[in-house]
Amino acid sequence: MSEASRVVDLRSDTVTKPTPEMRRAMAEAEVGDDVFGEDPTVNRLQDRVAEMLGAEAALFVPTGSMGNLISLRSLTQPGDEVICHEWAHFVLFEVGSLSAVAGVQARPIPGNRAVLDPDLVARTVNPPMYSFPRSAVVAIENTHNVAGGAVYPLDDVKALRKVADDHGLAVYLDGARIFNASVASGVPAAEYFDHVEAMSFCFSKGLGCPVGSMVVGTGEFIERAHRYRKMHGGGMRQVGILAAACLIALDQMIGRLADDHANARRLAGGIAALREEAVSVDDVETNIVLVSTRPLGFEPQELAAAMGERGIKFLPYRPGVVRMMTHLDVSTEDVDYSLERLAAVVR
Ligand SMILES: Cc1ncc(COP(=O)(O)O)c(C=O)c1O
Repeated sequence: MSEASRVVDLRSDTVTKPTPEMRRAMAEAEVGDDVFGEDPTVNRLQDRVAEMLGAEAALFVPTGSMGNLISLRSLTQPGDEVICHEWAHFVLFEVGSLSAVAGVQARPIPGNRAVLDPDLVARTVNPPMYSFPRSAVVAIENTHNVAGGAVYPLDDVKALRKVADDHGLAVYLDGARIFNASVASGVPAAEYFDHVEAMSFCFSKGLGCPVGSMVVGTGEFIERAHRYRKMHGGGMRQVGILAAACLIALDQMIGRLADDHANARRLAGGIAALREEAVSVDDVETNIVLVSTRPLGFEPQELAAAMGERGIKFLPYRPGVVRMMTHLDVSTEDVDYSLERLAAVVR
């Protein structure tokens, strides 16, 4: 490919295209009307996920945002609150759906990277007085997107579980990237799931599928979530077409996440070699690299624009910081090429 047309897209792990195997499986998928529960491929996927995670049941949903909304809605009543990280995806990027649709308020607290301090969670729980919102759920994210792909260590999940039990809270895990967490930490996803009431995860991020997320929990929870999925317009018909790609992802895409993590570290290491203060290589645990642009002589918007003109795409993320994400469609050569282009721009 000529340099003029070469593009490396580091904006998100959602930009991946389905693999040839996924496309083949999608074309050949056995399908039926899933609103009648008759799509054999969806049923197979849901059963397989439930078995894999040691859950009673699982439900296929179109997006991670719907997964978060219907899960939190299923675990609460209007007027309740959900204690969560101030940078939770559903707080920052889901159009306020928790309050607008579920009638539930987020109670954001600061975190240490992905991790919530169990004592702070305990102090945040409202006493059972009729004037207070009922603290019903504590929600965590693993890996944590805005905290730079940070893993929530299993011991910290266990410590949170204890506080949740002491205070009658359900624990919800936004596991959009749970398999990145699992591959990075060596903890099976089922073990993370063991300590929570409910979880969702995405097929359309690191696992490379075009569409799809899964909500996982008890049979009773999934029954509620199923009704809410329909209420929010998420009852899908011959959706085995999409589930077929997800089955391929479970077979082929989890182990390879280690390559994305190695590429992210390589990218971070190359940037640190340019300007050490621009990136903390030790903080790169999975596939997300947060880069401080001022040590490189740019504001985030300027750097993203200058690099975008050279075919290297990434997102201005917050003041002074851009985000780069590795994924299925970013090779080690793409990382090295990006670093060369960055070095040229910075110099
Ligand atoms: C942690 C986390 N949760 C939920 C979502 C929402 O997923 P979707 O874009 O499929 O709605 C995202 C999307 O990036 C995410 O990063």
